[in-house]
Amino acid sequence: MIKNQFKHVAIIMDGNGRWAKSHHHRRTFGHKRGVEVVREIAIRANDLGIQVLTLYAFSTENWKRPLEEVNYLMKLPFYFFEKYLAELMEKNIRIQMIGEMDGIPEDTARVFKKAIEKTSVNTGMILCFAMNYGAQAEIVRGVNRAIVDAKAGKIDHVDTTTFQNYLYTKDYPPLDCMIRTSGEMRISNFLLYQLAYAELLFVDVPWPEFTPDVFEAALQQLSHRDRRFGGIKNG
Ligand code: FPP
Repeated sequence: MIKNQFKHVAIIMDGNGRWAKSHHHRRTFGHKRGVEVVREIAIRANDLGIQVLTLYAFSTENWKRPLEEVNYLMKLPFYFFEKYLAELMEKNIRIQMIGEMDGIPEDTARVFKKAIEKTSVNTGMILCFAMNYGAQAEIVRGVNRAIVDAKAGKIDHVDTTTFQNYLYTKDYPPLDCMIRTSGEMRISNFLLYQLAYAELLFVDVPWPEFTPDVFEAALQQLSHRDRRFGGIKNG
């Protein structure tokens, strides 16, 4: 196993549909396989000592997909937690969610809340699902919350550091890196504020084929990047 240096890693899990189609299956088959990959990657990330793994599970734009696929995606948390919640407890992993919980179907929100509550006693890695998440909406929500605090006299301004307290990720370490699978080179409204100094890696492997070893190789590759955060080396 590699020596990991990252605290917060994010992944855009892309390519489920194309992978399924290329194997002559329906797109939903790819999502189902994708859930198994979530388990495998979460366990390896926890073993590597990553503190937060944020996975893009459903974007605010994914509602545009056919209803059948949206319904299927909303059922995945049931399947995942039913099958793996006991194992996540055993591994000391905490489940959390970022995004608009209010906008997702009530029963899906309920299984998430149950998993979040049950695993809240754990002290290991946070497995954070971005569900009904869009970064522009997150920023606008933050601005509105800051306005409320300003009107209440709690703050008179925000700066780039204090504004982070108004984001979903306020309690997480800064984002170190973001990996997107399946070859597309886009950010797709994911963690726009948090990505400012994160290292990006786009891999061709589709999510259903993204194994723990491919994940480790990706982290290894990212660990060779020279992170200067806008400064200069030895500056
Ligand atoms: C993108 O692939 C993937 C998604 C929209 C869904 C990702 C969700 C999971 C892998 C499982 C989440 C698990 C839980 C427990 C919530 P795509 O369908 O856009 O692929 P394509 O680009 O090939 O069409």
